Amino acid sequence: MAESLAISTSIKKEERYHALLPQIESLVSGETDLVANLSNIAAALKQTFNFFWVGFYLVKDNELVLGPFQGPIACTRIGLGKGVCGTSWKEKKTILVPNVEEFPGHIACSSDSKSEIVLPAFKNDNVFLVLDVDSDRLNDFDETDEACLNQVMRIIERLI
Ligand code: SME
Repeated sequence: MAESLAISTSIKKEERYHALLPQIESLVSGETDLVANLSNIAAALKQTFNFFWVGFYLVKDNELVLGPFQGPIACTRIGLGKGVCGTSWKEKKTILVPNVEEFPGHIACSSDSKSEIVLPAFKNDNVFLVLDVDSDRLNDFDETDEACLNQVMRIIERLI
């Protein structure tokens, strides 16, 4: 695996994703441990975009349980249909929230979080984990984030 990321911070977001995706592929190639791979993916996303919070919640015994992440401490367990993460799990789809205060039932792990995107990864048609990315700015995520982070989820699905 590569020992460092090579991504210019002066290029625009879409180009950064396009530079990052093959490097994520390379980071996880040859490593079979899921926690190790999710940890490096969270770190790579944090390093590239300086997201306020980025990490994973894994489905365990009918709850989402906090997994590898980068950012401030976070709530450890989320029920099905609860918050943005639990809704993404229940509805089996990506949820983009421009303003968390307008999302009914949003779970505020930090009052600094203002917008959020949550994407599911599937194993045998069931949600296996979700990726949660939070920003301390309103309206910080768009179709580019959704499309490119979806590609990250497809990489993860090949690991699980
Ligand atoms: N805001 C999330 C909870 C997780 S933290 O933001 C890290 C939610 O509503 O599901």
